Amino acid sequence: MNGRYESTLRVAPFILMTAMLIRTATAEDIPGLILLAQKSATAAHWTEAQYRAALLGESPRRIILVAQIAPGTVSGFLVGSEVAGEWELENVVVDSAAQGRGLGAKLLNELLENAKNRGAHCVHLEVRRSNSAARALYEKCGFQVSGRRPGYYHNPAEDAILYKKNL
Ligand SMILES: CC(C)(COP(=O)(O)OP(=O)(O)OC[C@H]1O[C@@H](n2cnc3c(N)ncnc32)[C@H](O)[C@@H]1OP(=O)(O)O)[C@@H](O)C(=O)NCCC(=O)NCCS
Repeated sequence: MNGRYESTLRVAPFILMTAMLIRTATAEDIPGLILLAQKSATAAHWTEAQYRAALLGESPRRIILVAQIAPGTVSGFLVGSEVAGEWELENVVVDSAAQGRGLGAKLLNELLENAKNRGAHCVHLEVRRSNSAARALYEKCGFQVSGRRPGYYHNPAEDAILYKKNL
């Protein structure tokens, strides 16, 4: 391996991290959001109509954040909603090729910041008991277990673990 190639490899992760952008989603992102969710068995799967309604942001009020590494691509996204002052994380997905680089934490922290700025006192979420990657992400971002819903999920049947973070 020559020296030039080695140094390219060494700086590549730095380039990817500095190019990362978190922004709000637009209608043009919808096909990318659907594709990304379809690739993940544990993500929530929404229809195009549901994403379009979410972008209108009426009742409930919703926010869709997108993590972009390269222009024109969607490497991760998050959906949060607010009903009567209570915020909920509805979905967070990072492309398997981009996982482990902090995108999930960046998206979640951005949601927490947005919810706080809009006057929320706490954010709730629920997750499959076996989803250890997501649970570790939530706990790293300061969420604490607040309950359990036995048999809440289907295909396969599984308990939901409820988490809450006070802001
Ligand atoms: C959960 C998910 C969004 C995490 O995204 P990510 O970008 O890989 O997460 P990050 O790189 O920001 O990791 C942040 C922290 O989460 C935890 N974490 C993330 N992936 C993990 C894994 N596979 N195993 C254990 N802990 C993990 C770690 O604590 C990590 O911090 P560290 O890197 O300092 O150890 C991603 O795994 C995913 O898209 N999963 C499929 C969809 C899903 O199940 N979504 C949640 C339910 S809707």
